[in-house]
Amino acid sequence: MYARRDVLRAGAALGLLAASPWLHAAAPAGLLTRKVPSTGEALPVIGAGTSGSFEVQAGSAQYQQLKTVLKAFFEGGGRVIDTSPNYGGADSILGQLLEEGGWHRQCFIATKIAADSRAAAEAQWAGSLESLRTDKVDLLQIHNLRDWQTQLPYARELKQQGKTRYVGITHYLNSGQDEVARIVRSEPLDFIQINYSVNAPHAARELLPLCQDKGVAVLINRAFDDGRLFARVKDQALPGWAAEAGIDSWAQLFLKFAISHPAVTTVIPATSRPERQLDQLKAGHEPMLTQAQQQALIKQFA
Ligand SMILES: NC(=O)c1ccc[n+]([C@@H]2O[C@H](COP(=O)([O-])OP(=O)(O)OC[C@H]3O[C@@H](n4cnc5c(N)ncnc54)[C@H](OP(=O)(O)O)[C@@H]3O)[C@@H](O)[C@H]2O)c1
Repeated sequence: MYARRDVLRAGAALGLLAASPWLHAAAPAGLLTRKVPSTGEALPVIGAGTSGSFEVQAGSAQYQQLKTVLKAFFEGGGRVIDTSPNYGGADSILGQLLEEGGWHRQCFIATKIAADSRAAAEAQWAGSLESLRTDKVDLLQIHNLRDWQTQLPYARELKQQGKTRYVGITHYLNSGQDEVARIVRSEPLDFIQINYSVNAPHAARELLPLCQDKGVAVLINRAFDDGRLFARVKDQALPGWAAEAGIDSWAQLFLKFAISHPAVTTVIPATSRPERQLDQLKAGHEPMLTQAQQQALIKQFA
């Protein structure tokens, strides 16, 4: 069962987006890009996540709403979408949406291995390809460093076979970042994915500069602290300098904080709502935040 307001919201969004001029006016293409150090490939700085927001039933009102979210995302210049085989079926929903929308070629698919043995990983990988409706992905990451000594060599084998173009590792807590840094120092990696936000800026101290130094691309998860930052700014005005930084929403400000670190390749915020997707895309343009603006935010959200 779905709340009536959700159904209405999805219908309204679909109707609105069918009249494309509004979409183009609201989300100009030409997102800023950053290069993946290991290849020089340019990726847009605004990507998307799927945890929670894509955990819906195929064919439901929420599913139709996600189709509108992805239409806005791709028409606005987005490419990178992150998922995982253990996001409650989100990868399968993503695969179905990509197929229905004809977006597979545009999409840079990042997924994960989250398994405790080679045999389990092999079975999971076969399932991932089926769910995502593809025979290869762009980035295969070891989820939360789980069994990484076994899984990273397996991911590299898949890269050699042309099944993934890049390999990486992920974590989502400050407490995981020391181990992520140890692996960045000792293993060749194309990407890492970590948390970084106005209230969790820990990575800027060591890990992000290390990635710049080592030539490792960086995806940022939890830029909204899993949505909790919006409760903290409820009814609060944006900082006085926001307009000069090209920002007119808190979501844009949180995303711009993440991409203002030069080590960051792409931030991957999740949303199930088309109007939020359009808003997020607006963060992917110059100017970046100054050091003083970043420090003011860290102080405000400490
Ligand atoms: N270990 C890992 O590898 C790991 C861990 C965590 C996350 N990730 C990846 O990173 C992605 C992003 O992280 P996340 O999903 O945990 O957190 P997030 O992007 O910080 O926050 C997502 C949440 O914010 C809400 N939201 C978005 N825009 C909003 C707005 N304008 N106002 C109010 N709420 C808003 C979304 O709800 P609505 O859907 O209702 O908009 C969603 O619940 C994940 O989806 C996943 O792909 C990976």
